[in-house]
Amino acid sequence: MTAQPQNNTPVRIGLLGLGTVGGGVVNVLNRNGAEIARRAGRPIEVIHASARNLDAPRICPLEGMMVTTNPMEVVENPDVDVVVELIGGIKPAGDLIKRALELGKPVVTANKALIAHDGMALFETAQKYNATVAFEAAVAGGIPIIKAIREGLAGNRIEWLAGIINGTGNYILTAMRDDGRAFAEVLAEAQYLGYAEADPTFDVEGVDAAHKLTILAATAFGMPLKFDDVYTEGIGDIEIADVNYAREFGYQIKHLGIARRRDDGIELRVHPTLIPEKRLLANVDGVQNAILVWGDAVGPTMYYGAGAGAEPTASAVIADLVDVVRTMTADPMHRVPHLAVVPDEVADLPVVPIESIDTAYYLRIAVLDRPGVLARIAKILADNDISIEAMMQKEMTEDERTLPIVMLTHKVRERAMNRAIANIEALDTVRGSVVRMRVETLKGA
Ligand code: HSE
Repeated sequence: MTAQPQNNTPVRIGLLGLGTVGGGVVNVLNRNGAEIARRAGRPIEVIHASARNLDAPRICPLEGMMVTTNPMEVVENPDVDVVVELIGGIKPAGDLIKRALELGKPVVTANKALIAHDGMALFETAQKYNATVAFEAAVAGGIPIIKAIREGLAGNRIEWLAGIINGTGNYILTAMRDDGRAFAEVLAEAQYLGYAEADPTFDVEGVDAAHKLTILAATAFGMPLKFDDVYTEGIGDIEIADVNYAREFGYQIKHLGIARRRDDGIELRVHPTLIPEKRLLANVDGVQNAILVWGDAVGPTMYYGAGAGAEPTASAVIADLVDVVRTMTADPMHRVPHLAVVPDEVADLPVVPIESIDTAYYLRIAVLDRPGVLARIAKILADNDISIEAMMQKEMTEDERTLPIVMLTHKVRERAMNRAIANIEALDTVRGSVVRMRVETLKGA
């Protein structure tokens, strides 16, 4: 067989955003250009880039590229073959990507918010103009999880996935647990290191994780992107006391994104979760991310790596670029589909309300030291068919006026737990709100 002639003309990239990730992309392309060209079949060169402020300090050199403050100029430059969008946020990124697609230019983006909110419309535009939107870098930084689900697990019916998918949040929880450091101090450090979102409340309140979970679920189940249906709880209320009680029970608290297939729909939820400390996922610390995916044929598989940062995210952006270059000549109907299934097969699965999920619970109840308190709490739980798995009652310290009762329950329907908690909080011997966290045993994973 004779070798196919190679087209060695460089693929010319227009790069929108020269911040942490944009700078990382330029640096990795500069450093590994020859190897990347061997893989893509053609050299990849950034010829035109945009930045909000041309005088801002940068982590990368700008040699060999034109630079502008007007990103639309880059998109519309006829010499630009592929657009890489690393600005983030909905506006103006969405308009820039739309325009690039209308010009038939493939787009690579790390923009999870935009994909989670407007991905369906963008995919439709891409199909219409025979282009594509690649978004590996939008989920879990450098971990090739979209590719793993869309291609590596294509033979499986995916049953569930659970992931630590926000590096900043995991970094904060790890530092709180290991060093007892203050929340604000660790968050400032994550911002300095370039892990945190422009608006760090997205990290802390779970919005960033919900964006990523939306994308993971759509890819895993071949369903539309349903960001508005994700149940989201942040990590802002986690107290060191709960981290320590959880450890006494043999659990770690992690901020998990969970997507689970059920007969009546899909569970989509982001919340602090106790997981047994012996699970691999419980040992994912710092800015690292990990996603556990359960496929019916393969069983549990886990994907681990840096979930944020300049070069890890650049790694995912460049992998997408190589894919795009490889498929530039392929018939659009035979490219890997955006949501893993061919567009006509995307199935509109319902997302079940949070009150209908079944999980075990961690509860911390502050009570007055009176006879019969425990019996009344136990009765409320029994009346709601909630069975206690483990329980501790701690001594009162001198400066406290209440005793903490800490327990783990067996699995229960969330609606029943809400009812029980409301009744417990109404007892005259109980003080304040009951602290509650869901528990996932991740059995077999
Ligand atoms: N703020 C995100 C995180 C960046 O901390 O995981 C990567 O999406």
